[in-house]
Amino acid sequence: MWEKEMNIARQAAIESGKILNRLFGQTKQITKKGAIDLVTEADLQSEKSILHIISRHFPQDSIMTEESGHYNHNPQRVWIVDPLDGTTNFAHTFPLFAVSIALKFQREVVLGVVFNPYMNEHFEAVKGMGASLNKKPIKVSQTEELGESLLATGFPYDINKNPNNVIELFKRFVVLGQGVRRPGSAAIDLCYVAAGRLDGFWEEGLKPWDTAAGSIIVKEAGGRVSNYEGVPYSPDQKNIVAANPSIHEAMLNVLS
Ligand code: IPD
Ligand code: CA
Ligand code: CA
Repeated sequence: MWEKEMNIARQAAIESGKILNRLFGQTKQITKKGAIDLVTEADLQSEKSILHIISRHFPQDSIMTEESGHYNHNPQRVWIVDPLDGTTNFAHTFPLFAVSIALKFQREVVLGVVFNPYMNEHFEAVKGMGASLNKKPIKVSQTEELGESLLATGFPYDINKNPNNVIELFKRFVVLGQGVRRPGSAAIDLCYVAAGRLDGFWEEGLKPWDTAAGSIIVKEAGGRVSNYEGVPYSPDQKNIVAANPSIHEAMLNVLS
């Protein structure tokens, strides 16, 4: 199931990866969508390439992309695309970024691809088929205690206006966990939870394209994904917590 869709998503991610690797360290045009929210020519070129590939193969489908919005109106099949997750990293030549492509069928994400072209790490999952990294199956960690956990988070682009809640939660997890990282790409954070490199991840203020692909990769790797209230993941939720089942429960207690 979803074989053709996965092949095209994979192909689109690989082509974008070539664009991102070629432009990495060469960024000349940076515009701002907000005070600290950037767009580079890499975001735009990557998005154009993905749109071209998906719309050529699936002209009837909707595509929701970060930079250019929504194409078509087929609510049954919606591609959710972040052409460059980790733009701030990319613009500063901090080498951690990815392209993220998911397909939502009816109300549910059914496949996801997250490709980090700099490290050549290709994460993917199809509903019911498990998750993989470079074709090898991956599983979430088995860590049971928050005190033994390596966690990650990210900060929303309006943090300069409204930092208090974000910093309060950061403080709580720094105190309770073994370590907290802020890598700068929510899609990669989710994949690292799926691969057991992180035990848990939380963040507020995310958009569907940040989380759609990563969420199914976590779920298919045996993890849990929900909002801070424990409601199972859907792409329009504004906050997310993803972790192995034990740590997910422990994190929900801290977030509530
Ligand atoms: C951002 C990254 C970052 C997260 C931000 C996102 P972008 O996406 O995922 O890790 O903290 O909230 O918006 O703008 O680089 O695509
Ligand atoms: Ca993003
Ligand atoms: Ca982006």
